[in-house]
Amino acid sequence: MNAPLSDLVVVSNRLPVDVSVADDATLTYRRSPGGLVAALEPVLSQRSGAWVGWPGAPDFTFEPLRLDGVLSIPVPLTSEEIADYYEGFSNATLWPLYHDVITPPEYHREWHEAYRSVNTKFAEAAAAAVTEGGTVWVHDYQLQLAPSMIKQLRPDVKVGFFNHIPFPPEALFAQLPWRREILMGLLGADLIGFQRAQDAGNFRSCVRRLTGLTTRGHQVLVREPDGSVREVASAAFPISIDSAAADARARLPRIQARAREIRSELGNPDCLLFGVDRLDYTKGIAHRLKAYEELLREGRLKVPGVAMVQVASPSRVGVSAYQALRDDVEATVGRIAGDFGSLGSPAIHYLHQNQDADEMAALYLAADVMLVTALRDGMNLVAKEYVASRVDGRGALVLSEFTGAADELRQAILVNPHDIDGLKNSILRAVAMSPREQRRRMQALRRRVLENDVSAWAAAFLTTLASR
Ligand code: G6P
Repeated sequence: MNAPLSDLVVVSNRLPVDVSVADDATLTYRRSPGGLVAALEPVLSQRSGAWVGWPGAPDFTFEPLRLDGVLSIPVPLTSEEIADYYEGFSNATLWPLYHDVITPPEYHREWHEAYRSVNTKFAEAAAAAVTEGGTVWVHDYQLQLAPSMIKQLRPDVKVGFFNHIPFPPEALFAQLPWRREILMGLLGADLIGFQRAQDAGNFRSCVRRLTGLTTRGHQVLVREPDGSVREVASAAFPISIDSAAADARARLPRIQARAREIRSELGNPDCLLFGVDRLDYTKGIAHRLKAYEELLREGRLKVPGVAMVQVASPSRVGVSAYQALRDDVEATVGRIAGDFGSLGSPAIHYLHQNQDADEMAALYLAADVMLVTALRDGMNLVAKEYVASRVDGRGALVLSEFTGAADELRQAILVNPHDIDGLKNSILRAVAMSPREQRRRMQALRRRVLENDVSAWAAAFLTTLASR
């Protein structure tokens, strides 16, 4: 590869590039939208940065290319690597293990082999792309071995790691047959960031109990082969969204008009409830639907006074737990729709599709009550997007205590989604909330989300890393 070297290299499983195929089979490459790219793009362009990642389809690759000032460097994966490293070890071993074993994690040695070899590929690509003394920032649970591999290949560079999902308590993490290797992989970094202080604490207690290394405050003391001691810092850096962009979009007349149109298409209910999630068992979609169904059955909520929209974006369709979840959710949705809706007044409108940013903004504005009932979630950016979109200061947010966002969004109605009766009461409280109380709470929520945006997050992480 003859691409120029970069001073800052971001590494994540997915490359933020959308590839489209024209009728004449020519390919067009565009930066895919998303908070993380938006936040990192200014600093990446300034530092002639690069992004290393998988282009998202089997056996597909292209020459490194510059998009909006950022060099995209693809790491191609074969179908077998996708099955074993991505669907297997990342999403059927680590994902459930790191999310409170909501679904039982599967431990397969060949998946682990693939995880190690794919992490090596990413590490080699990053090590080849970074300038002398530059910085590599590795993201998320799919790439936990990469930090130490990069450090070994390029001891001159600073390595940061950020975990976007929870880090499990030692009692659960200890199940992992490769627990020590994962911890040592992470400890190749100079700074390890987590969403919540709780995650960073879990990580350090796993290190103490499972590696024998000592910690001092937020630092882990790593003994190098030459006998020297390297300090690795671990701390919470709660991620956010491009709040100003979400706020600005929600102010556009076309978005406000679309929000009104959505409500009228749903029969103009007095109260519109809204949920939007990747179709993932961590999101507590079934718990939310159960609470809603019971409220309808008991007559405590009534159609057409109330309606619900649930957007479930397709996710990890090759993993069996996701297929089972889809069957379960869709059976419940069908029952609610069939038992309680009528023509022109649906009890629930379900979309198993991705929605574009404009439609999402309109849905947030149209929704009186936003339901975030995750059983475990690193952060939950949907909660923050809802808040940033409520430029009218209205709306009520029902938010699970088991999200990272709950640490910050204290003025939401906080719920334990396992407690169905509690959840039902909280939904009723949100439905009945006075405009005055909505404004009071939303004002405080908005202040928090607008101040602590994703650029502030990236700057805080990179500044801390630079000072190591
Ligand atoms: C979570 C993870 C990300 C991941 C995203 C979508 O937010 O933290 O790393 O990219 O889910 O999942 P997918 O498997 O489609 O990349």
